[in-house]
Amino acid sequence: MHSIRIQLIGFIAAVLLIFLVILNIYPLTSSRDLIFEEKRSAITGQAAVVASSLSGLDRLGTDSVREVLHLLDLGGYSRTVVTGEDGTVVYDDGGAAGGVTDIPDILSSLGGKSVFRSHFTSEAFSSSCAVPVYRRGSMIGAVYLCEQDYERADLIYDFQKSLMRISLIIGAVALLFAGVFSTVLLRRMRELVRSIRIVAGGDYAHRLVTSGSDEITELGEEFNHLTARLEDTEKQRRRFVSDASHELKTPLASIRLLSDSIVQSGSMDGETMREFAADIGHEAERLQRTTEKLLDLSRLDDDVQVIPEPVDLKQVTVDALAVLNPLAAEKDVKIRCELADGCVVMANTDDMFHIVFNLMENAVKYNVLGGSVQVKVNAEEDKILLTVADTGIGIPEEDRLNIFARFYRVDKARSRASGGSGLGLSIVHDAVLAHGGTIAVGQNKPQGSVFVVTFPRPTSEETGI
Ligand SMILES: Nc1ncnc2c1ncn2[C@@H]1O[C@H](COP(=O)(O)OP(=O)(O)OP(=O)(O)O)[C@@H](O)[C@H]1O
Ligand SMILES: [Mg+2]
Repeated sequence: MHSIRIQLIGFIAAVLLIFLVILNIYPLTSSRDLIFEEKRSAITGQAAVVASSLSGLDRLGTDSVREVLHLLDLGGYSRTVVTGEDGTVVYDDGGAAGGVTDIPDILSSLGGKSVFRSHFTSEAFSSSCAVPVYRRGSMIGAVYLCEQDYERADLIYDFQKSLMRISLIIGAVALLFAGVFSTVLLRRMRELVRSIRIVAGGDYAHRLVTSGSDEITELGEEFNHLTARLEDTEKQRRRFVSDASHELKTPLASIRLLSDSIVQSGSMDGETMREFAADIGHEAERLQRTTEKLLDLSRLDDDVQVIPEPVDLKQVTVDALAVLNPLAAEKDVKIRCELADGCVVMANTDDMFHIVFNLMENAVKYNVLGGSVQVKVNAEEDKILLTVADTGIGIPEEDRLNIFARFYRVDKARSRASGGSGLGLSIVHDAVLAHGGTIAVGQNKPQGSVFVVTFPRPTSEETGI
């Protein structure tokens, strides 16, 4: 794995290097070029002046040339050479006159063209220029001027050194900043990775301490949200497993106790034995109901997409009523229905039955002797409503938030005695949400509870009716 720090520093170093190389090369070469240009115009101009002054002489003789040069006052040149048309040196302030010159530029200029040359060493700018001298159209010789500029060379050299020094300082500071920045960044990333590992190890209570407002902080906050949700889910899962085991354990223990009693008692009369067997049957029935409800819940949890079909809530309510009538009669509870036609929702018939049945069953079960239940199905502009109101014992306000949780019962003893597992309303809740609906619970005036369920009203294209 390549560390981000190495990548970051490498990247910054590369960018920096390019920048510094350009910084070192560009100003130097352009100022050098400028000086070359200046030299060229100065020295070629001067050589032309010398050539035109010499062209006035009858003959290029050493003395006459010296005189002209003296008059022209050519200070600042390191060497001045004048030759005749055959290359014989007439005047040379850096050597002897008389022989044929060996300076190639003079020989070239005797061929008829001017030659300029310039180069820079760390010590000096050397520039030279050779031009032919004409008198009345015919060449009579050549002039060669050579200059060594140490001052400018020193300036350029100092400039180069200053640039180098500045570059080194910029480079060092930038790398230092990159190092500090990447260390801080890396420390925060490591902290995040460490937290992820801690949470992955099962410590869902762990939270990352975040500060600032950049993307890493945002990442840290998102991580904390995720962990909080994980913690919540894990807590629910643990509670569910322990509640479910408890719910299953209780009837199993009763069955065990009852069957042990039958086995151990040698002289149990037939009547008692039948009573015990009937009790075993009840407990087994309770177990069966609980496991069936757990299966329903896990099916709703599974998120398996069932193809929705048009379900008439009136018909579902009539079916649920048929099943509940005996229980209502037993408790002397009157069920009044107000069912509008055409209240169709796009859902699953079994789920709708669970919803209506559980709500109505609760309304009867948690009612008072001689109480009543009012079931209403009606349609509004964009929704279908199911209202189940009862005149029963009611649900205390502080419990209303919890009654949709799995295994939650307001009055544990009473609910368990009536065979309730505390799963009915969770199934209702999950089924309502699965079909895009909402559920709310409130107090029924003057007494009891009221559950209001809404579903989105399907269009006639959806239902095909
Ligand atoms: N209409 C109601 N009036 C008063 N209390 C209610 C009503 N409906 C539900 N409750 C309370 O809410 C709790 C949860 O209801 P839920 O239907 O989930 O479970 P249950 O009826 O106990 O068991 P199950 O429905 O699984 O047989 C009940 O135990 C009861 O205390
Ligand atoms: Mg119930």
